Amino acid sequence: MYLPRIAILISGKGSNMEAILKSCLTGELPAEVSFVGSDNINAKGLDTAATLGAQTRVFFYKRDGRKAAEEMIANAIEETETDWIVLAGFMKILSPEFVKRFHNRIINIHPSLLPSFPGAHGILDAWNAKADHTGVTVHIVDEEVDHGRILAQERVDILPEETLEMLEEKIHMVEHKIYKEALKKHFLENPISIEEWEEE
Ligand code: GRF
Repeated sequence: MYLPRIAILISGKGSNMEAILKSCLTGELPAEVSFVGSDNINAKGLDTAATLGAQTRVFFYKRDGRKAAEEMIANAIEETETDWIVLAGFMKILSPEFVKRFHNRIINIHPSLLPSFPGAHGILDAWNAKADHTGVTVHIVDEEVDHGRILAQERVDILPEETLEMLEEKIHMVEHKIYKEALKKHFLENPISIEEWEEE
């Protein structure tokens, strides 16, 4: 069976990346991590990834500008024969050109039930809105921010006695479970390799 190759892009802690990488290593998620990339050289997740034996790469947005940094990501994707780009707390918005180039091959996780509470502060925004629930969404990335075909969603209740920190913790636990499950299902349903993408 073809083992899809995934690149995981992060900007910070990388707890979702860690959950995915570990499940690839145990075989729970039948995929291979080609590299873990970050726009932030100090991302804690880069150390975690390296400790777990993954190749790591840094893309210097500030130094090189978005266009050049994205070109370097694209080169890394091609050079490592990566099939899927998995965003896990990657805080840079990908340009429409980049999204078009890797059409349907970029997947993201967002900490809300999209289309509710898009943007960089999904959890906080739901909290401030005093919503009684929020959730987690895994989706294909299209040219709009936090938008695209939904692969999986799970509701998370916000209980009156909960603090923001408790809610964040609860959401992250759901994320770590739902992301690998959604990826597994999606890869099984789309057993397409880089060569086939190129032929499309
Ligand atoms: C997660 O909440 C994810 O949904 C959002 O950014 C956060 C990243 O957390 N896109 P981590 O770096 O995976 O710990």
